Amino acid sequence: RHHVLSLADFTAAEYNTVLQTAASFQEVLSRRTKKVPTLQGQVVANLFFESSTRTRSSFELAAKRLSADTLNFAAASSSMTKGETILDTAKTYLAMGTDIMVVRHREAGVPNAIAAEMDRLGVKVSVLNAGDGQHEHPSQALLDLFTITTLIDPASPRLELLKGKKIAIVGDILHSRVARSNIWSLIASGAEVHLAAPPTLLPKLFAEYICEESEVRSQELFSDSPTPQLFLHWQLEPALENADFVMTLRLQKERMTAHLLPSLREYHQLFGITSTKVQLCKPNVKVLHPGPVNRGVEISSELMDDPEFSLIQSQVTSGVAVRMALLYLLGSGKA
Ligand code: CP
Repeated sequence: RHHVLSLADFTAAEYNTVLQTAASFQEVLSRRTKKVPTLQGQVVANLFFESSTRTRSSFELAAKRLSADTLNFAAASSSMTKGETILDTAKTYLAMGTDIMVVRHREAGVPNAIAAEMDRLGVKVSVLNAGDGQHEHPSQALLDLFTITTLIDPASPRLELLKGKKIAIVGDILHSRVARSNIWSLIASGAEVHLAAPPTLLPKLFAEYICEESEVRSQELFSDSPTPQLFLHWQLEPALENADFVMTLRLQKERMTAHLLPSLREYHQLFGITSTKVQLCKPNVKVLHPGPVNRGVEISSELMDDPEFSLIQSQVTSGVAVRMALLYLLGSGKA
């Protein structure tokens, strides 16, 4: 694999390679020096055409821990404000000797378009999708996978540890690239995935589309076991009952037209995750959120800060090791 643009076609072996490589980098990050010379001389360019805190900073830190040189681009302070196009911007970074481009854009497909242009030019540049519109956010889903599998087996995180686990994904599924990437990885693991959202944020047509796609994928992966793996709910409670993990999602107000935006108070009442509602789940349930969080909307402030339940800070920490793994596997041509 030359680029990482989507998890839709990731194989079990690829997931496990990323998880095992991330585990070895997690060990490096626990040392005093925290740095390896693996990507010395390589250039990683963070091309962020949309805002970010976690993804941009952790890709930058990951590249630095691997001894790569880093370039950070933010559209608002770039020559795009003078009319330069996305592809010309990418080619400018190519001309500076960039080896890996980490791309975020508010429109789906921009990382794919840059990757296609690099391939057309015949250059050995890898493109990593750092979140494109409502399409995918592969590195976020991989760090979520790493966070929960290391919790089950810290010495050997692997995909099959989630087989049969019940995982609820709750909230703004319609706009969530994180949900889309997580659906692929969780289906591949053999987990039972329950999506819960108000009908405006998981409309029937969209839900049918997700179901159809994921059914094809789960049949590919488990041709001998046609057990349904993806369930849809327009209420929260059935998704939470006996869940092992709950993934909450941000209400993406910036992507919503007015009629889709529920009242925040009503949303919290019906779909917000609280200490009371997690009583429906397994006793040792853990709650995730990719961030940024609308405190008190998707999750109560109290639960968010409770280390017994919340994996939110662990997700951010895992992000550095997982992004080191991705950069290493692409940079060393082993992905
Ligand atoms: N989870 C996530 O992508 O966060 P940022 O937008 O801060 O990168």
